[in-house]
Amino acid sequence: MIIKTKADILSSEITDRAVFEARRTLIKAAVGASLLTALPGGAAMQPKKYAEVPVGPYSAQLPVNAFEDVSRYTNYYEFSTNKTDATVLAQALTIKPWSLMVDGEVERPGVYQLEDILKANPLEQRIYRFRCVEAWSMVVPWVGFPLASMLKQFKPTSKAGFVEFTTLYNPDIMVGQRSSVLDWPYVEGLRIDEAMHPLAFMATGMYDDELPKQNGAPLRLVVPWKYGFKSIKAIVRIRFREQMPKTAWNKNAPHEYGFYANVNPDVPHPRWSQRRERVLGGGIFTPKRDTEKFNGYGEAVAPLYAGMDLAKYF
Ligand code: MTE
Repeated sequence: MIIKTKADILSSEITDRAVFEARRTLIKAAVGASLLTALPGGAAMQPKKYAEVPVGPYSAQLPVNAFEDVSRYTNYYEFSTNKTDATVLAQALTIKPWSLMVDGEVERPGVYQLEDILKANPLEQRIYRFRCVEAWSMVVPWVGFPLASMLKQFKPTSKAGFVEFTTLYNPDIMVGQRSSVLDWPYVEGLRIDEAMHPLAFMATGMYDDELPKQNGAPLRLVVPWKYGFKSIKAIVRIRFREQMPKTAWNKNAPHEYGFYANVNPDVPHPRWSQRRERVLGGGIFTPKRDTEKFNGYGEAVAPLYAGMDLAKYF
């Protein structure tokens, strides 16, 4: 996987509008095809809200999946453990207006409106490979902003060692929360240096448009070097903490889902190997691909874990 840092990027690459537009056209073709059979809540034939958002410097140069692959096969246990049912049931969620509670070890706690957060954080597009702990992967063109740029605006104190994220709790709408499959609400967390890493991303859109509800609208985390369960959806609270947060999957099965959850082909899940992954959208004859350590982002993120035994802190 190629990740370009600002220093690596040539000005000719930044200004080559023709190349940029050609790639956009390809993405639009994929999205356009999907709109013919749009899900409930889909906005067939409407202009894409984020079509003019620039490609960010950390975007990977990878061919993206079709929109259908990403938007119809979703893990969203608040609605259902079934990927198709979750996709349909999530359409019941109201996502406007949306606010974010910020508290804990922070100088500027409060309740922030999402529209104000969006005004303060310029949007960019990031193409990332996304690797689920269930051994499948896809490549998604997200739209959003670096997590660090938002967190810095809240001014964490020197005691903030971790960041805890919480999903909305509303069992009337999120019907999966009526079951005890997880200890609700869904909580995830990052160490503060992980959260401040330039690859950690807050997504509000994908495929040039608003984020579909089933993919975590209106605000979700994307941490490309970690298994997908870290990328928490529909975030309503960010809490800066001294202590490591207790996270949903880790509480559910600590021997299977660690706090760190860095993609690592050398550490098998207790019930399956992590060596290879099925690429969504491929037919049954498409060979699996070899899973890359840190999902291919090792050069950028391995220093975060220098000296740590990755088999112990999995
Ligand atoms: N966030 C919440 N709130 N609830 C969930 O069930 N599933 C996680 C993650 N974030 C989940 C969540 C898992 S297991 C994965 S693989 C990704 O979301 C899936 O993201 P996607 O459905 O957009 O592909």
